[in-house]
Amino acid sequence: MNGHHLQRGDTVQEQNPAYGPPLSPPSQKMQSMDNLQQFCRPNRLAGTLTLPGDKSISHRALLLSALADGPTTIENLSDGEDVQATAQCLRQLGLAVTGSGSAWTVHGRPLAQWQPPTTALNCGNSGTTMRLLCGALAARPGLQATLTGDRSLQLRPMARLAAPLRQLGAEVQMATDERPPLEIVGRALHGAEIVLTVASAQVKTAVLLAGLHASGPVSVREPLPSRDHTERMLVAMGADLRQRDGAWQLQPGPLRPLAAYRVPGDPSSAAFGVALALLHPQAQVSVAQVCLNPTRMGWLRVLQRMAAVVAVRPSADIGGEPCGTVLASSSALVATDVAGDEVPQCIDELPILALCAAAACGTSRFLGIGELRVKESDRLAALVRLTTALGAQVRSGPDWLEITGVGGCANWSAIPAFDPGLDHRMALCAAVAGLAG
Ligand code: S3P
Repeated sequence: MNGHHLQRGDTVQEQNPAYGPPLSPPSQKMQSMDNLQQFCRPNRLAGTLTLPGDKSISHRALLLSALADGPTTIENLSDGEDVQATAQCLRQLGLAVTGSGSAWTVHGRPLAQWQPPTTALNCGNSGTTMRLLCGALAARPGLQATLTGDRSLQLRPMARLAAPLRQLGAEVQMATDERPPLEIVGRALHGAEIVLTVASAQVKTAVLLAGLHASGPVSVREPLPSRDHTERMLVAMGADLRQRDGAWQLQPGPLRPLAAYRVPGDPSSAAFGVALALLHPQAQVSVAQVCLNPTRMGWLRVLQRMAAVVAVRPSADIGGEPCGTVLASSSALVATDVAGDEVPQCIDELPILALCAAAACGTSRFLGIGELRVKESDRLAALVRLTTALGAQVRSGPDWLEITGVGGCANWSAIPAFDPGLDHRMALCAAVAGLAG
């Protein structure tokens, strides 16, 4: 799980007796008992949230640097376990990935020099590691690899990945239910025009990474635009990649190292801090160095429709991505509808948006959100559990959710315990509920 840090001294932590027993000293704000952590509302919340490096960009910075011939230093790499899984898999493929904390060096080598792994590549809980790596490895003739992961990853659908890669000539086998582990036998790939059936940045990236080594041009078209970090980074690394008639067109070719790269702050992590500030009755929070890439900012557009008191101050780009500060303060939220075509650009923030809907006045509808069922957990089911427990009126279907909020989170019911089911975003949603309500 990524770390979220309100800077020391910034949070005023007097306890409001209406919301539970006094918490003193402040370090007991979050009490940990084995795996159970308790969150209660402080009277006031003010300060600056510092962010870890963006998780999606961190995976890409490691993997694309590994494919370029030469060293790259990476600052502010996400320190979460998912990104460490990518680093560890690259080491198993013979690449030198060294560093600690958020400062890392990757000594990239052309794909043809990557070593066949001697044991299965363990992607842990990280779908991004598995899908991106699969795209790269599928194009390395002579390399055979098994990609596996934890209990949650082994339940995630992989046919959406195998099908387009096979159109390029790749050999990818899955377990009978089209889930991991994956068996890859690297092949010489050919060009193709790929039309994706799911708007997935992971699958799009896998196709582009495979396409770098194909014998002819590769184009990839998505049903709806998803995050474009890979495209930005590939262009910065000298790839011949253009958008034409709504599709990405790639001419195969080598990448040059970025040499020095800084990962911008994670907007998905920022969304939890911003939501907490909006929900809490006495809050003013700023989040600096947030990646403001429009393909990641759907959540802020939704919150603005909900009458959120937010402001954005753009600053200099970081790592080829627009960045800035987001300021947020206590808000009386109103309901909104989230349409299916908005979903790819707020896919990871739908849980925290649903939590906001549970505090808003009125009924919010989230449509076309079936993808939530195949994330680290069935997030749609988890959201029904969480928002119902808080007291909201909730209805749901296979790919939709309707939440009638309680008109302010002071009206939420306390939740004795919530099981996030190995899912970091659901754990953070429940933590925000406890800190705000
Ligand atoms: C990601 C893409 C999204 C997102 C995931 C990270 C990425 O997944 O939910 O957390 O880094 O490309 P999908 O591609 O499955 O939509």
